[in-house]
Amino acid sequence: MKIAGKVFLVTGAGSGMGREMTHQIIAKGGKVAALDIHLPQLLETQQICSGGAANFLALEVDITDRAKLLALPEQVIKHFGQIDGIINNAGIIQPFVKVKDLGFDQVERVMNVNFYGCVNVTKAFLPHLLERPEAHIVNISSMGGFLPVPGQSIYGAAKAAVKLFTEGLYAELKETAIHVSVVFPGAIATNITANSGIEIPKASSGSSGMTALPANEAARIILHGMETNQYRILVGSDSKFMDFLCRLAPEYATNFIAKKMKALLG
Ligand SMILES: NC(=O)c1ccc[n+]([C@@H]2O[C@H](COP(=O)([O-])OP(=O)(O)OC[C@H]3O[C@@H](n4cnc5c(N)ncnc54)[C@H](O)[C@@H]3O)[C@@H](O)[C@H]2O)c1
Repeated sequence: MKIAGKVFLVTGAGSGMGREMTHQIIAKGGKVAALDIHLPQLLETQQICSGGAANFLALEVDITDRAKLLALPEQVIKHFGQIDGIINNAGIIQPFVKVKDLGFDQVERVMNVNFYGCVNVTKAFLPHLLERPEAHIVNISSMGGFLPVPGQSIYGAAKAAVKLFTEGLYAELKETAIHVSVVFPGAIATNITANSGIEIPKASSGSSGMTALPANEAARIILHGMETNQYRILVGSDSKFMDFLCRLAPEYATNFIAKKMKALLG
């Protein structure tokens, strides 16, 4: 779906890819209801966007707060007159530890934000998107949603759930005017580790051997994928390569990434 003249909800718009997508959507003539758990970060995003309140609505909401989310479409439609697309981007990672060392509180937090948050936003906005002549749902999964990364097993499980949820939505909505895209970013240069309240592992520097893509380039690839109605959007050469390797030789791919990540976990 083309961006110009359309209104999008972008979750996690206060940082990283969400901030960059918000900036680029507005630059392309779209409008954004920008949602984040942190208002100051949202206001920083607004600073880099042109057009003021006519194009940008800041929504300080936690995507795990289902009751608040269900009331949100009304607020967005009241402000902009319509809603044409949602980009479920907000997310967090887990501490870099093995499952045996991960507390149930962390398991639930990661599932709540990454999976249920995405489901909550989708269910809140879906009835309104179905009323539009054309609409789009973009859900950000991860390369970790198809490739097991040691030390991020629950994160990966949550992102795999986002993948299947989105693919199911695509199939269910095929006969409607809603396009559905699932996004698999590889390593992207953002502050997700600090924003997730996670300590950066001491051995992390260069240990994965992957070069992170700048967030603005990732945003450009995602929005291009949306504008050309792509079903699957692979972001970065690492994601493209691992997508290929996982299909060709799944066990080899698992061992390959486990070896690369070994220094992080010991
Ligand atoms: N950075 C990467 O390498 C990478 C790779 C693959 C997938 N992803 C995914 O891309 C998405 C964006 O990540 P990013 O790297 O830009 O991260 P980021 O930390 O820069 O941005 C994420 C934003 O989401 C917000 N957020 C977190 N929990 C929230 C909640 N409960 N309610 C509302 N907002 C919340 C944060 O405040 C933050 O502003 C995430 O879903 C992430 O899992 C990132």
